[in-house]
Amino acid sequence: MGDCKSKGTYYITTPIYYPSDNLHIGHTYCTVMADAMARFKRATGYDVRFLTGTDEHGQKIQDKANQAGVTPQAYVDNVVDGIKKLWKTMEISNDDFIRTTEPRHMKRVQKIWEKLCENGDIYKGKYEGMYCTPCETFWTESQLKDGCCPDCGRPVQKASEEAYFFKLSAYADKLLKLYEERPDFLWPETRKNEMISFINQGLEDLCVSRTTFDWGIPVPNDPKHVMYVWVDALSNYITALGYPDEPELYEKYWPATHLVGKEIMRFHGIIWPAMLMSAGLPLPKQIIGHGWLLIDGGKMSKSKGNVVDPVVLIERYGIDALKYFLLREYTFGQDGAFTNEVLLKRINFDLANDLGNLVSRTVSMIEKYCGGYIPGSIEAKDAEGKALDEELKAIATGAAAKVEEQMDKYAFNMALEEIWIVVRRANKYIDETAPWVLAKDPAAKERLDGVMHNLAECLRIVSVLIQPFMHTTSKNIRKQLGIWYAEPEWDDASVFDMLEGDQVKKGDPIFPRLDIEKELAELEAFKTKNEPENIPLELKDPIEFDDFEKLDLRVGKIVEAEKHPKADKLLVFQVKMGTETRQIISGVAEYFKPEDLVGKSVVVVANLKPRNLRGLESKGMILYAVGDDGDMLVTTDAPDGIPVM
Ligand code: MSP
Repeated sequence: MGDCKSKGTYYITTPIYYPSDNLHIGHTYCTVMADAMARFKRATGYDVRFLTGTDEHGQKIQDKANQAGVTPQAYVDNVVDGIKKLWKTMEISNDDFIRTTEPRHMKRVQKIWEKLCENGDIYKGKYEGMYCTPCETFWTESQLKDGCCPDCGRPVQKASEEAYFFKLSAYADKLLKLYEERPDFLWPETRKNEMISFINQGLEDLCVSRTTFDWGIPVPNDPKHVMYVWVDALSNYITALGYPDEPELYEKYWPATHLVGKEIMRFHGIIWPAMLMSAGLPLPKQIIGHGWLLIDGGKMSKSKGNVVDPVVLIERYGIDALKYFLLREYTFGQDGAFTNEVLLKRINFDLANDLGNLVSRTVSMIEKYCGGYIPGSIEAKDAEGKALDEELKAIATGAAAKVEEQMDKYAFNMALEEIWIVVRRANKYIDETAPWVLAKDPAAKERLDGVMHNLAECLRIVSVLIQPFMHTTSKNIRKQLGIWYAEPEWDDASVFDMLEGDQVKKGDPIFPRLDIEKELAELEAFKTKNEPENIPLELKDPIEFDDFEKLDLRVGKIVEAEKHPKADKLLVFQVKMGTETRQIISGVAEYFKPEDLVGKSVVVVANLKPRNLRGLESKGMILYAVGDDGDMLVTTDAPDGIPVM
C-alpha cells in the first residue's frame, strides 16, 4: 500500500433535499455520484467525510403540512424517515445526515447570522418585489418572463415586507476575482460562464429574512423574522461539522467539494462564497454542477405520473445494477434522458453479458479444469502466448491509474468504461486462448493453468476497481474467487500475479439476464397501478366568499387572436361581450395557436382593472385552468347556446 494512506482529508456533500415529497431517481442520482466519489476517495487513501441531509424550512413545507393537516415538524419527520431509509437501502456511505430542524443546526446558523451582522453585511430594509409563492422567490420586474416567474412560469404577486438583506452586491468583484484566481472553483466551465454573466448583469443585495411565514429559524433578536431558506440551508455544510461551537470536525474537514444540480449552482457559486467571505471563513474547494435526468424530455413531475421511484428499480434489479446504470449512462455535467429501456439494456449488456459471463466462465473453468483451485502464475512458452498475456496484464494493471484520472474529472461514466475495457478484454482472451481446446490436450495443461491464472487475476483486479461503485458485486466476485477473507486494497489493482491456490466457488449468476420486453411491460403496468390517487392539490391561500363575489364573470366570444408584437408569451384577443368588443391579453402563447382560439366562448373576469402589457391595454381576463406544472392550460369553453353578454 505504500504511503497511500497519507493523502489527507476529503469532504464531499450533496445538496440537502427538500422533504416536501419522497425523493425520486433524480435526487438518487446526485447521492449515488457523491457516494461513489466518497468511496473512491476512501479507497485511494483519503480520510473522507461525506454529508447529506434535508432542507426542512420554508413556506412550501409549511403549506404542504397545512394541506396534510399536520404540523410542519410532523410532516417533515415522516418524509425524512423515508429519505433516511432510502439511503440505508441503497447502502449510501454518508458519515452524517444533517436536518435543518435539528437544534445543532439552528443554534449554529444563528451564530453565523450574527457573524455576518458583526461584519456589517446584514441590514434591515424593505423588500418590494414580485413574489412567486411556489418557488419562494422574490423577483425584480426585469427578471420576470412575460410577467411570470422566470423559473416556473407561474403568476407572481406584488409583495412588500420589512426584511433583512445581505450585502451581496459588495461581493461582485471579489467573486469574479475568485473565479479568475481559482479556475477550477466552479465546474464545469459552462456553469462558471453562467455565473460570470449573471454577476456581470449586476448583483443585487439578497433578501435573507421573511415575515410572511414562521416555519424557519428565527432571526436573532428579531424573532418576527425567520431566515430565508438559503442562509439557513447553505450553512448546513459547516454546521454539520460543528462550526462554530464544536469546531473539531470543521477544522479537520472543511473546505468541501459540493455536488449540486445545475439549478442551484447560482446559490452555491455566488451566495455561499460571499457568505463565507463575509464570515471570514475559507471557501469551498470546488463546486460541481451536474446535469438533470430528464423524462420525456422534461423534469419529472407527479402530475404527469412519470416520477421514477428508485425503490421499485432496486427491488427488481438490485442496488448495484441501479448504481452502475446511473454512473455509467450519463455524462456528469450534462442532462441525460432516463428511460426504462436504456436501464434494462445496460443491465443486460454490461452486467449480465460482459461482467456476469466473465465471472461465471472463469470460475466454472477453474472448477472444471483446475480442480477448483486457482493456479499460480505460469509464463507462456510461445511468443504469441507471451505477447497475448503481456497485453492482457498491461491493460488490467494499467486500469487503476486511468480510473483515477477519469474520477479526477468527475467522469464517472468513463471511469467505469476503463474498467469494462478490462472486462471485455478478458472475455476476448477466453475466446482467443480457447481453454476448452487446451483442455483436450494433456501437453497443454501448463498453458491452460497459466490462462486460468490470468483470468482469475483479471477478475480480482476488476473486483478491486468496481469496489467504490458496486461494493456488493465486488464482494460477490471475491467470494466466488475464494478471496472473501481479504479487503480489496486499491493498490492491488496495479499488481498482477497475486493469486495462487485459492479455492473458487461458483455462485448464482451475479446479474441474471432480463427479458427486456417482459420487464418493460411490467414496469409500465406497475406505473399504472401506482398512479397517485387523491393527492391534495397545492393551492394558493383560501379566499373569502366576499372576495369571490367581487368578480364580475361574463361569457365572451373570441373574435380575433394574434401574437403580441413585443412579447413571445402573450396573445392578444378581441373578445365580444354584448355589443362591446374589447382587447384582452393573456400569457398563453406557448399553449395555444391564436387561430385555434378564434370562435371560442370563454369565461371572462370583466371587471378586472385595465392593465398595460408591453404597450397594449388589456381589459379583463380570460379564465384558464392551470395544470400542476403550468403547462396544461385549457379554455373553459361555455356550452353552446349561452348568449354572449
Ligand atoms: N433544498 C435545496 C438544496 C439546498 S442545498 C444547500 C434543493 N432541494 S431539492 O430537493 O430540490 O434537491 C435538488 C437537487 O436534487 C438538485 O440540485 C439535484 O442534485 C437533485 N435533483 C433533483 N431532481 C433531479 C433530476 N431530475 N436530475 C438530477 N438531479 C436532480 O434544491
